Amino acid sequence: MHPFDRAIRLVLPMGAVAVMATVLSVGWFTQPDRFARGYAPEQPLPFSHQLHAGTLRIQCLYCHSGAERSRHAGVPSTTTCMDCHKVTKTDRPAIQQLTRLHNEGKPLAWNRVHTLPDHVFFDHRPHVKAGVACQTCHGEVQTMQVLTREMGMRMANCLACHRDPHQALPKGSKITKAAEHCAACHR
Ligand code: HEC
Ligand code: HEC
Ligand code: HEC
Ligand code: HEC
Ligand code: HEC
Repeated sequence: MHPFDRAIRLVLPMGAVAVMATVLSVGWFTQPDRFARGYAPEQPLPFSHQLHAGTLRIQCLYCHSGAERSRHAGVPSTTTCMDCHKVTKTDRPAIQQLTRLHNEGKPLAWNRVHTLPDHVFFDHRPHVKAGVACQTCHGEVQTMQVLTREMGMRMANCLACHRDPHQALPKGSKITKAAEHCAACHR
């Protein structure tokens, strides 16, 4: 075999396979695991749910009003923060950073904690309307200094509740089952 042939037939494909394997394994091991519990990405500001939702008892919907009105609960804009922080703790570096962004019209680039793959359809509204507490899916958020994912976003977790939701519903609820057909969540 001509040495050049050998290079093309063996060395190059082997090299290509090695490169592919590296790319795939690095991709696999560094992907943010959307299913794992305990995921807590770093955030641009040290915002504490324990302080705001726990100690100060600000309602979840004050900042996440989307949960009642749209598919997405949404994260609040700096305007919502400035309702209070125009006057509250203005001497703190974090609040000065918040104020600067707000005045420049820039959003806070919060990193997402919960995500689902694109082929899954989720809507907050039917859950809020049925009376399922935020904590059933998101954990005791009002005790979290750093927001951490509590529920693995697995199909089995959705289905377990949909088959038998009574524990998650308020007393007296008329709902006995939620949708189990594929098209409810895959459309
Ligand atoms: C039945 C489970 C469930 C309940 C109840 C629930 N959530 Fe969610 N939440 C999810 C899932 C699943 C996602 C990820 C959605 C996605 O990736 O599209 C999510 C995402 C979010 C997000 C990220 C932004 C967004 O809208 O995607 C926020 C904020 C949030 N939820 C807040 C709340 C609040 C506040 C409540 C209570 C009013 C609540 N959730 C009730 C399951 C739930
Ligand atoms: C309803 C009023 C209110 C809203 C809305 C609010 N906060 Fe606060 N926040 C407070 C109060 C009060 C404190 C101080 C509590 C204390 O230390 O006594 C505080 C403290 C903080 C601190 C800690 C400051 C420090 O270094 O001590 C940060 C950071 C913060 N808030 C960020 C935010 C962000 C970001 C938003 C918007 C997503 C927001 N807050 C919305 C009332 C509010
Ligand atoms: C003062 C405003 C404020 C209040 C009150 C508040 N949140 Fe949040 N929430 C935020 C901000 C800002 C973020 C984005 C930063 C972070 O993840 O910590 C957030 C993030 C979240 C997320 C993660 C979103 C994602 O990326 O997946 C969930 C879930 C959530 N909040 C649920 C709740 C629940 C449940 C309550 C009530 C117990 C609540 N929040 C009360 C401001 C608030
Ligand atoms: C803790 C219980 C619980 C969990 C967990 C849960 N759901 Fe639900 N889901 C419900 C209830 C209750 C309803 C409302 C049923 C009704 O109104 O009849 C509902 C309704 C829905 C609907 C509306 C169905 C329709 O008929 O249009 C969708 C879509 C949905 N859920 C998707 C999801 C997905 C996706 C997940 C997982 C990420 C999930 N749910 C997790 C309890 C839950
Ligand atoms: C209540 C909501 C819900 C219903 C109903 C549902 N799924 Fe899913 N499904 C999900 C969620 C959330 C995911 C993403 C998380 C995961 O892969 O576990 C998913 C993922 C999947 C995947 C991808 C799995 C993977 O490993 O990537 C397939 C295939 C699938 N579903 C098929 C079905 C079929 C078939 C049905 C009907 C028998 C069905 N689903 C009903 C919520 C649902």
